[in-house]
Amino acid sequence: MTPWIDDGLAAPLRQRQRRWLVTGAAGFIGSNLVETLLRHGQTVVGMDNFATGHQRNLDEIAAAVGTEAWSRFSFLNGDIRDADACAEATTDIEHVLHQAALGSVPRSIADPITSTQTNVMGFVNMLDAARRANVATFVYAASSSTYGDHPALPKVEEVIGNPLSPYAATKLVNEIYADVYRRTYDFAATGLRYFNVFGPRQDPNGAYAAVIPKWTAAMIAGQEVVINGDGETSRDFCYIANAVQANIRASLAPTDVQGNVFNVAVGERTSLNDLFSQIRAELSNHQKPYNRPPVHTEFRRGDVRHSQADISKAQSLLDYQPTHVVGAGLQEAMTWYVDAERRGLLS
Ligand SMILES: NC(=O)c1ccc[n+]([C@@H]2O[C@H](COP(=O)([O-])OP(=O)(O)OC[C@H]3O[C@@H](n4cnc5c(N)ncnc54)[C@H](O)[C@@H]3O)[C@@H](O)[C@H]2O)c1
Repeated sequence: MTPWIDDGLAAPLRQRQRRWLVTGAAGFIGSNLVETLLRHGQTVVGMDNFATGHQRNLDEIAAAVGTEAWSRFSFLNGDIRDADACAEATTDIEHVLHQAALGSVPRSIADPITSTQTNVMGFVNMLDAARRANVATFVYAASSSTYGDHPALPKVEEVIGNPLSPYAATKLVNEIYADVYRRTYDFAATGLRYFNVFGPRQDPNGAYAAVIPKWTAAMIAGQEVVINGDGETSRDFCYIANAVQANIRASLAPTDVQGNVFNVAVGERTSLNDLFSQIRAELSNHQKPYNRPPVHTEFRRGDVRHSQADISKAQSLLDYQPTHVVGAGLQEAMTWYVDAERRGLLS
């Protein structure tokens, strides 16, 4: 297994035990951030309201990292829409990794109000609490959905189009607020525009599950796999190890780099048809053969046709280098999903 962060990046973590706040800690990306930080000797406060996250994700970390590392973790069951809870969470924190939000384009189309309250007001609550608490860095989950209807490929940070969904609008508004806080309060928040992150603990269940966990669970159960559209829609699928690396690099980057927005991806493009074949091949390596053809339905509202990142800005300013291309990521992820099924977590 390729290490998620290399020795060069692990060294500053080894030097000093820092205090981190991870919001959305019971979710997919947040729980992987918590686990990595604990494994590297850090002290972590996690905050979550379990809107889409799960206690089982925290339990899995506890079991994986052992008693000493787990003793460096504390948890606040709180809602980012509550300004007092944000103030409590940011007390004595050096580095904030703000992941809490309601993800999913279709969820935001079905219920724009809750997505906006969480992703916009919750974001500003957390940003302001962090500013008042004088944290050293604030890194937040931005999104590739911010590129909206702009057709250019690959996506460079400076060229965005119109948002295609309420979700995309909320993530664009996050960037606007981050920029306003930089100019108004000299408080620099750094945005990571994730491109379709996938990996262990990404939830396969529910109406708004992401494509990789959803298909994987369906294939393992021998159920129908649905592809929206002709399957030539493409994405820059990014394994979670790369996203974790980007968060830590951004947090440890010099002051003059803070306040930027960075693409976090691999820089490659995989079509849904290709993805289907790759997941099927990986599962068959795990003695989970899937022999049904996919079922194609109509395109989904709010979806962009193609997405691929230019990652040169993160490479040059953060020294970010993806450790896992899609295939390597799928290999690790499938090992986790097959095991998760054995533990009864996929239904
Ligand atoms: N996964 C991706 O491909 C992707 C792509 C772009 C951006 N993002 C962003 O990354 C972040 C993490 O996404 P994820 O994939 O881990 O999703 P997730 O749903 O697994 O995690 C989000 C976490 O935030 C928590 N949360 C939601 N509302 C909250 C609230 N009001 N108060 C406190 N906690 C709350 C949820 O319970 C959950 O644990 C989100 O901001 C998401 O928009 C993810």
